[in-house]
Amino acid sequence: MTRPMTTPHTVTNQANGEERTPAFATPDEVVARLRDQDYLADPRIGMTVFLADRLQKPVLVEGPAGVGKTELARSVALATGARLIRLQCYEGLDESKALYEWNYKKQLLRIQADDRREAWSELEEDIFSEAFLLDRPLLAAIRSSEPVVLLIDEIDRVEVEAEALMLEVLSDFQVTIPELGTVTATRRPTVFLTSNGTRDLSEALKRRCLYLHLTYPSVEREREILLARVPGLSDGLGDQVARLVRTIRDLDLKKPPSISEAIDWARTLIVLGMASIRPDEAPETLNVLLKHEADIEKARRALLGLPPVEDASGQIHSDLFRQREAPTSQ
Ligand SMILES: Nc1ncnc2c1ncn2[C@@H]1O[C@H](COP(=O)(O)OP(=O)(O)OP(=O)(O)O)[C@@H](O)[C@H]1O
Ligand SMILES: [Mg+2]
Repeated sequence: MTRPMTTPHTVTNQANGEERTPAFATPDEVVARLRDQDYLADPRIGMTVFLADRLQKPVLVEGPAGVGKTELARSVALATGARLIRLQCYEGLDESKALYEWNYKKQLLRIQADDRREAWSELEEDIFSEAFLLDRPLLAAIRSSEPVVLLIDEIDRVEVEAEALMLEVLSDFQVTIPELGTVTATRRPTVFLTSNGTRDLSEALKRRCLYLHLTYPSVEREREILLARVPGLSDGLGDQVARLVRTIRDLDLKKPPSISEAIDWARTLIVLGMASIRPDEAPETLNVLLKHEADIEKARRALLGLPPVEDASGQIHSDLFRQREAPTSQ
């Protein structure tokens, strides 16, 4: 049962106390506007994005690979006409790549060109000023006067210490630069952090965020996603692909197929000129969907209606079986 919602036309901007127009009137509007960008969101996603805008809180989006975490941030930027600023995280990410860096070359040139022989204090004040600052994604997002969606992608790849760099930005929407002072956002960016859950994130980071867990969609939603994302896909083939992908995901696999792999599979079938696909025709192209030999073998046997094969340790013995099943060449 959905409760009708009445929401205010303006909300107070927590950054400067001014009134601002919210990006969305209702959670349903979020879903509709994301759909306009070919992003098919369920009501939970709609509600989370709605609240992120109203409460001005970052969203931590967690879930397996290829389920639409990054695409959600991109689609929200498109839907709201905001600029997308992306910080791709990696092991070893530091302040100079995430927040800001001083333009050392320019500072050096300025020092060399100092023919007036200024006192060091004057020179220092000059070379640590705005003109010598290079902003990196977090600072750029904070300083932007335009609406911004800040995507901190794959945050679980950075070390816990680097996570701490983000905390000031995520809680106070500000960055402190010792030589310049504190830069505070006049317009808070909408922030998405994504994680594949390869490690636990700190409680301090989680506390500052709304949490959204994305997983594989229902057959119906996946069919809609396929139809939206794959040009030339018929309703019928879209439905068959979504159903087969679901059957395959229900097997106990090392790595179940993601939405992006389902999209690749539908594209493959179109390239091959197939107007429909039966389960027994699927095994030929399973390598587009699955990336582990044991998974391919398991799915192949399930789709062909063959019993699963296990050795004493419970491992699939695909090579053994291929040998046994291979036609004898005589
Ligand atoms: N809800 C959706 N609506 C439409 N397309 C979607 C949806 N979810 C996923 N996709 C499609 O799947 C592709 C992969 O999604 P995305 O790159 O966002 O995955 P991800 O969760 O960020 O994966 P990874 O963890 O590997 O980075 C997108 O480019 C998009 O085409
Ligand atoms: Mg991603």
